Amino acid sequence: MKELLLSATEARRNAYAPYSGFKVGAALKAASGKVYLGCNIENGAYGDTICAERVAFFKAISEGEREFEAIAIVGDTSDCFPCGTCRQVMAEFCDGDFKIVVGSPEEYKIYALKELLPHAFDFKNGERKP
Ligand code: THU
Repeated sequence: MKELLLSATEARRNAYAPYSGFKVGAALKAASGKVYLGCNIENGAYGDTICAERVAFFKAISEGEREFEAIAIVGDTSDCFPCGTCRQVMAEFCDGDFKIVVGSPEEYKIYALKELLPHAFDFKNGERKP
């Protein structure tokens, strides 16, 4: 996990956060073994900002990935937890055992998605069209 946190730290350097000054980096490991990086990208129309976690997920999904193992998140605070919207996006593509790693490469904790988003909304209980 340390390596994934190092990748998230690297991704954080590209954060575009001129409004909040709060930079976040994320590194998402797909089942394929490939790692997708993301950083937060803010907008002067504040609501159009996107979090680091969703950038990493959307990059991976758009490249054809559908199965994921873990995401590491590094922010300005010692533990930067994903927001509710990002947790719901994770729940769309990951099962409850998906790992969310929060902290720094030196000190981190691993959570399961089901701990951070219990009773996640699941459209038609998972009966999705391919
Ligand atoms: N942010 C993330 O990128 N990920 C999180 O987990 C929490 C918040 C960003 C959004 C915004 O650019 C800034 O942090 C402050 O909310």
